[in-house]
Amino acid sequence: MSTRPGSRIVGIGSALPEHVVTNADFEKRLETSDKWITERTGIRERRMGGSTSELAIEAGMGAIKSAGLSPSDIDFMILSTTTPDQTVPATSAVVSDRIGIAGGAMDINAACAGYVYALVVANSLIVMGQRRILVIGSDTLSKITDQNDRSTAVLFADGAGAAVLEATDNSSLLGWDLGIDGSAQPILYCDHGGYMQMEGREVFKRAVRAMVDSAKRALEMANVGPSDISLVVPHQANIRIIEAANERLGIDMSKTAIVLDTTGNTSSGSVPLALHDAVKKGMVDRGQLVLFSGFGAGMTWASAVMRWDADAIG
Ligand code: COA
Repeated sequence: MSTRPGSRIVGIGSALPEHVVTNADFEKRLETSDKWITERTGIRERRMGGSTSELAIEAGMGAIKSAGLSPSDIDFMILSTTTPDQTVPATSAVVSDRIGIAGGAMDINAACAGYVYALVVANSLIVMGQRRILVIGSDTLSKITDQNDRSTAVLFADGAGAAVLEATDNSSLLGWDLGIDGSAQPILYCDHGGYMQMEGREVFKRAVRAMVDSAKRALEMANVGPSDISLVVPHQANIRIIEAANERLGIDMSKTAIVLDTTGNTSSGSVPLALHDAVKKGMVDRGQLVLFSGFGAGMTWASAVMRWDADAIG
């Protein structure tokens, strides 16, 4: 296989608020049941609390530490978030200052597909000469969710994850696909000062289609097929969406990183949280292929195929 300059992941970190909200907690105050939530979504509990920047800082510091680096080794930072702490400035301003990163920093908002968008953008900055980029995904969706609306409250939660990307002559990123269909904006949105509004069934249908089509395009660019993939890291919205997409792609659930049962949907946090968990469990070895795949409000979608090229990182 030919090589080309690009990036590889050398460190991962994650952060979850301490406060656990179980399905039983919702049962006590909403017309819902643990059975309904578990069967329809796969979610058993989720974490709520903290701010987007606090969670981002913890995850980002963890990723730098796991790479055996210090903040001064990082020359750029990207924060994927849909729930910035303020409208201005970007949350990356606060996060990069608190972590102590000297280079540039910016927020990216592509909703729940944002983290995979950020990985691809970071890779292109590395191709243009940056050496190490900290890519964080952090969201506090509980802040923009009506906790009395059973149709959304049980789904959305808070969390963050991060990875350090480093320049290499043999890029890990083999294929990618980024897309958006803005005509689908009305099916999932949140106005300033409002709460998440969602047409659940329509989102479900489109999410499966978007994930499958996007993954196929990324696989094609990488010149590999689903059977070459050792680990899938999908956006953690709903276990049934992941099962449906995997089935259509022909990928076994045993090769899939899942944390949504304990995290709920943490938007930008979900992919790096799932990656960190899978790496800690030893689900991927050096040289194996990882498929990242996300979808979100917009609707956005994003996929990436990466050759895993890190020694044990925890
Ligand atoms: N507990 C009990 N009943 C609930 C409920 C809850 N937490 N939330 C909704 N319901 C009810 C609905 O009000 C509806 O009742 P009705 O038939 O009396 O109107 C019924 O359950 C069925 O709702 P429906 O929306 O058809 O259920 P569903 O099988 O599509 O499951 C979702 C609902 C939200 C779990 C599912 O559509 C989904 O996961 N969609 C994707 C959401 C998502 O991933 N969003 C984020 C994208 S990044």
